[in-house]
Amino acid sequence: MARLLLLNGPNLNLLGQREPETYGRATLEQLVARAGGTAASLGHELVAFQSNAEHELVERVHAARGDGTAFLIVNPGAFTHTSIALRDALLAVALPFIEVHLSNVFAREAFRHHSWFTDIAVGAIFGLGGGGYELAVRAAAEHLAARGTS
Ligand code: DQA
Repeated sequence: MARLLLLNGPNLNLLGQREPETYGRATLEQLVARAGGTAASLGHELVAFQSNAEHELVERVHAARGDGTAFLIVNPGAFTHTSIALRDALLAVALPFIEVHLSNVFAREAFRHHSWFTDIAVGAIFGLGGGGYELAVRAAAEHLAARGTS
């Protein structure tokens, strides 16, 4: 069994109400429950954390180094396009992660086309809505199994 940490950045606490035509109608709680169910069905544990504050996300990543987290699934929200601090935190803990975006960021404004995370991620999922979190859980489980770390 491995512990997976699902990290969500700013404004993702408003899923369900926030621009539903872009981000869907499911709440973050519902998406976390679905992804957690998928993790459990694969014999893993999913822990979720959301914050609107950059330093809280950085500190949660630091804590992941010592709390048994084997893999992260990260939707940095708007910090995707701005946060070198969160990028550096992920590099510092050297834990593998998958970047997830609910929307297809490449079909949106030009400022969303650059991510500070994709080049250091195991992989990225975008444009598949909340189902992207479940796909990331499955990919994380396969990644860990392939490396004998689960
Ligand atoms: C997002 C895409 C970002 O550009 C945006 O700032 C978000 C959500 C997504 O999941 O599609 O907050 O990360």
